Amino acid sequence: SKHLLGIKDLNTKDIELILETADTFKDVINRPIKKVPSLRDITIANIFFENSTRTKLSFELAQKRLSADVINFAASSSSVSKGETLIDTVNNILSMKVDMVVMRHPYAGAGVFLSKHINAQIVNAGDGAHEHPTQALLDAFSIREKYGDVAGKKVVIVGDILHSRVALSNILCLQKLGAEVKVCGPTTLIPKYIHTLGVKVEHDLRKALNWCDVANMLRIQLERQDIKYFPSLREYSMMYGLNKQILDSLDKEITIMHPGPINRGVEITSDVADSKQSIILDQVENGVAVRMAVLYLLASQKQ
Ligand code: CP
Repeated sequence: SKHLLGIKDLNTKDIELILETADTFKDVINRPIKKVPSLRDITIANIFFENSTRTKLSFELAQKRLSADVINFAASSSSVSKGETLIDTVNNILSMKVDMVVMRHPYAGAGVFLSKHINAQIVNAGDGAHEHPTQALLDAFSIREKYGDVAGKKVVIVGDILHSRVALSNILCLQKLGAEVKVCGPTTLIPKYIHTLGVKVEHDLRKALNWCDVANMLRIQLERQDIKYFPSLREYSMMYGLNKQILDSLDKEITIMHPGPINRGVEITSDVADSKQSIILDQVENGVAVRMAVLYLLASQKQ
């Protein structure tokens, strides 16, 4: 496809090709000369309508490692504050001869909407509580790097599944690669449609952790929820927070993941986040190689 809007649009072979291409780029960026000329004729605009640290910086670094020209747009410091629409904003940026748009937006479906109205390639860097495809790809890459394969692995996603784009993209991606996925959290944070995705729900954290090989601990997305309907952060942390005592009491050594940003002491304690079982910073490192792979493969699909 011309765009990367969601994992929903990818098949197993597409995902495997991205991961294999990312293997090559990971080797490249570990060399003394980290840069390749692959995208030197491409101009990319990073358009962020929502805050980001990891996604924004790793896309920019991926683009620079591929020798693309890069411009960055943050809605908060732009003319959006004067009333300019999304389509006008993007069309004005495109008239500066931009080939590709990497967009984060608070509304689900913003990337699909844009793809129908503008003439450029679009990469979804997170759209509301819908999809975050490059996060799922870097998570799959990190599991594959740790275990050699994703197929057959048992992954539990813990926390605020209802408001999480990371959860949906991870479920779709891991299942396409042959992993078994469960979710764990309070009923109020689990979407009602979860069973239609072939995902089982476990409300008991200890049982979920004893079942899995990998636990992906999500942040409570306070910015997307009406707090009065949910357990307080203290209650959540008591029932679903992962600490060293729980981790050490499990039957086997599991791997801990987190997409970031971490709320230390809520969904995970520092001694777990910083433990040798945690691959949280490997996920961030792998984000650059995976995003290089996505941009490189999309640039070859320009038509
Ligand atoms: N994981 C992730 O999307 O982090 P940022 O919001 O900082 O980009």
